[in-house]
This record gives sequence, C-alpha cells and structure tokens, in this order.
Amino acid sequence: MRVLGIETSCDETAAAVVDDGRTILSSVVLSQLDDHRPYGGVVPEVAARAHLKHLGPILRQTLAEAGLGLPDLDGIAATAGPGLIGGVMVGTTAAKAMAFAAGKPFLAINHLEGHALTPRLTDDAAFPYLLLLVSGGHCQLLVVEGVGRYRRLGTTMDDAVGEAFDKAAKCLGLDYPGGPALERAATDGDCRRYDLPRPLTGRPGCDFSFSGLKTAVRQIVDRQPPGPLSYQVVADLAASFQAAAADSLTDRTRNALALVRDEAAARPLNALVVAGGVAANRTVRERLAALAGAHGLAFIAPPLALCTDNGAMIAWAGLERLRLGWVDALDTRARPRWPLDPDAAPVIGAGVKA
Ligand code: KG4
Ligand code: ZN
Repeated sequence: MRVLGIETSCDETAAAVVDDGRTILSSVVLSQLDDHRPYGGVVPEVAARAHLKHLGPILRQTLAEAGLGLPDLDGIAATAGPGLIGGVMVGTTAAKAMAFAAGKPFLAINHLEGHALTPRLTDDAAFPYLLLLVSGGHCQLLVVEGVGRYRRLGTTMDDAVGEAFDKAAKCLGLDYPGGPALERAATDGDCRRYDLPRPLTGRPGCDFSFSGLKTAVRQIVDRQPPGPLSYQVVADLAASFQAAAADSLTDRTRNALALVRDEAAARPLNALVVAGGVAANRTVRERLAALAGAHGLAFIAPPLALCTDNGAMIAWAGLERLRLGWVDALDTRARPRWPLDPDAAPVIGAGVKA
C-alpha cells in the first residue's frame, strides 16, 4: 500500500510517498524561511502564495523520486487543518483534484495526528504512548491510544514553547528562526546566571505557560546599558532561558506520566515520545530522556527531519487511516482550528493553538 501525503499548513511546502513497510519512498520539503525572514515571522498571505507557486513542481518531484505515477498510489492524503487556512486550502484542493482525477481515496489529515503517529513510522511504536508535541504553533501532552484516539492531558495557556524560543531569541537580537539560534548562543552561556521563572512548575496538572518566561527575558534585556547586548549577556540569557523552558516541559511531562500511571483503567504506556521542532533542542531531549529512564520507559525522538513539518508524517497518518477504511469525502473542508481531542477542556487563551 502506498500513500502520497501533502503538508502546507504553515511555512513548509512538503510532499512524500510512504508504503506500509514503513518505508519513505520519497520526501521533498521546501522551507519558506527566506520568504518570511524580512518580517521576522510567518506571514499567512505570503505563505499561501508560496505554497501555490511551489506545490505543483514539488508533487512532480516527489512522484518522480519515488518512481511512481498517480495510478500506482492507493490514496492521497493532505493536511486539512489546523493551520493557516490559505495554505491548508492549497494542499487539500490539490489532493482532492488528484484523487478525483485518478479515482483514488482522499484522506483529510489533522496535522497534529501526523506528528502523533510519526513514531510508528520511525520506530514502530506500539500504542499507547505519551506524546509531548512541542513546535512553533503547538505545545501539548497527549496520550496516543490508537489511530484516531488521542487524549489531551495538557496544552499551553498562552504561547507555544517554540514561539517563546523565537520571541526570546528576537529579544536577544538573534536570527530568525530563533530556536536553533538560541540553542547555539546558549552553548557558551552559564544557565545559572539569571534566575528565570519556571511557570507552573510544582503545580498540579499538565498545562503549560511560557509568556511570563518570555517577559522575564525582555525585562532583563531592558535593564542592560544602551547599545548592543554583550556576547556574554546573550549567551548567559540564552542558556538560562533554555534551562527554564526545558525544566518547565519536564515538570509538566512528569505530572502527565504520574497521572496516567494512577489511572486505574489506563493501559501502561510503552514510551515517552517528543515531536515538533523544539524536539531538536539537545537540552530538552536530554531532560526528557532522563525522565523516561527514571520511569522505565523507552524514549523516542524521531529524527529531526521527521520532527519538523514534512509530508511523510501526513502520508503515514493517511496510510494508517486507509488501512482502517477511514476515507474522507471530496467535500471535506479545510479547518483553521481542529483539536485532536474533541473532549479536551478549552484552556483560556489557548483557542488559537488547538
Ligand atoms: O515543528 P516546526 O518545524 O513547525 C511548527 O511550528 O509546526 O517547529 C518550529 C519551531 C520554531 O519555533 C523553532 O524556533 C523551534 O521549533 N525550534 C527549536 C529548535 N529548532 C527549532 N527550538 C529550540 N531549539 C532548537 N534547536
Ligand atoms: Zn507541525
């Protein structure tokens, strides 16, 4: 079984073909970073136009690299939300048109489901597992119980953690995107120099909050003498921020593990999984690996290229759904918001993240 997947929900135009032997036959990811860099963030209109311009050639390249034509596919999947609606419409419209023309099933995929099922593509992870999804747009803890069965234990009450990395980096005068630049700057820094808050740490529950941490960085920067920040202040602040963010993620994940362990009806977890762009951060990975080890759990962090947005995760989620016979109608709508767990209680201020 072979499925084509299309991802256009943010600033990557991506497509891939995967098969049911867990093989990625081809995967093409075009980052729009250069289009958005002048603005210091993703501009929805710029993103939608770039998807429109690049998706056709990327689809041709993806099929050519897999050595396949449309008739060889068993299904065509696309991210149908949540995300920037212009881009999502470009991807779903292309997928529907190809599915209609070739008489193939269409699969409307929730972008978060793509991230959530990736460890099954990369590591053959068995259900259930705990997923910490940490990206520029999302910060959630989910129990992945089966295909289409996701239980959200916590989400952010304000910023996503990647967004906080990006804003803190901007404050420090670092390049966009901020996460990787901040991690590089932190390598020369002392993480104990600034005592930054660890929001919600020690409190019950599994929700996150990062806006206070970002504000604390801003206040320290504002107190510096006029002119550019010194190299050491940038390095020390970057290291202190990174340590605080990693501590906060680890504390909330620890609570989630305890919560699931104490649920009488829950099946024991098989692994702790981290996914999303922030999963690239070595400090974050190390703390989570140690936490998993302390709980006797396997720790899975998919390879970086499959942690950040890509087409293979959408193709794989499509394949998992197709295997269950869950096909979508061609009038399925693109959705800017689409919570993975419809039963999750809304968190104040977090509507845009769901
Ligand atoms: O998953 P992703 O590629 O896109 C979505 O947001 O869906 O994640 C991008 C986010 C950005 O906020 C970026 O700054 C952050 O992931 N990021 C990092 C690192 N690499 C990427 N944050 C911290 N450390 C990193 N090494
Ligand atoms: Zn994503």
